[in-house]
Amino acid sequence: MTTSGLFISFEGIDGAGKSTHIDGLAQAFRAQGRAVTLTREPGGTPLAEKLRTLVLNDPMDAMTEALLVFAARRDHLLTVIEPALSRGEVVLCDRFTDATFAYQGAGRGFNLQMLMILEHWVQALPALGEHFIRQPDLTVWFDLPAEIAAQRLAGARVPDKFESQPVEFFKRVSSGYLARMSGEPERFARINAENTREGVWLDVFNAIKTRGWLG
Ligand code: TYD
Repeated sequence: MTTSGLFISFEGIDGAGKSTHIDGLAQAFRAQGRAVTLTREPGGTPLAEKLRTLVLNDPMDAMTEALLVFAARRDHLLTVIEPALSRGEVVLCDRFTDATFAYQGAGRGFNLQMLMILEHWVQALPALGEHFIRQPDLTVWFDLPAEIAAQRLAGARVPDKFESQPVEFFKRVSSGYLARMSGEPERFARINAENTREGVWLDVFNAIKTRGWLG
């Protein structure tokens, strides 16, 4: 089993039910003696959490949103993710760049070429190689039809800017995730999030186990 750093991101539309499974995986890795950094985007550092509050609550155009989430990502990558990976830890990150392609790109219609440029710029780590771009080792995508996610979210809490978007928005976000997965299928584990909680957990656990990362 690997003892080098491991970077796993978790994605899906709002209401897809990522959180309990991320916590479950953290426990499973810790039970096997691995140090785990549990973090999220936008956020994960004091500066990035401030940017998160702005992005989730203040109206702004899609480009401003994209620039803010990438600024938050740069700070998070340099001060939390990279140090944890170099200590050999497992980094479990609730959302990463695929969310930007899905929400700002597919959801809000921001230029995908521009997002690709930002991705390569922000995630470049020349100290690790001239062309090295940090990407998750695995992205667990909780795939749930937008109508079902909307039912799950209804009345759950006061919705933020994204959670209050119509079903059509989340259909576009899902298609954005599908497009990202199609471009890099080996990086993704697509989980049917319509399943029972136990069924979803088994699929998530197996996605990690089959890669030899959990016994
Ligand atoms: P989410 O991860 O669902 O956290 P919580 O469970 O606390 O609501 O919320 C983050 C929101 O931010 C979500 O609606 C998706 C959005 N988001 C973007 O629009 N772009 C991004 O790049 C990221 C990382 C998130």
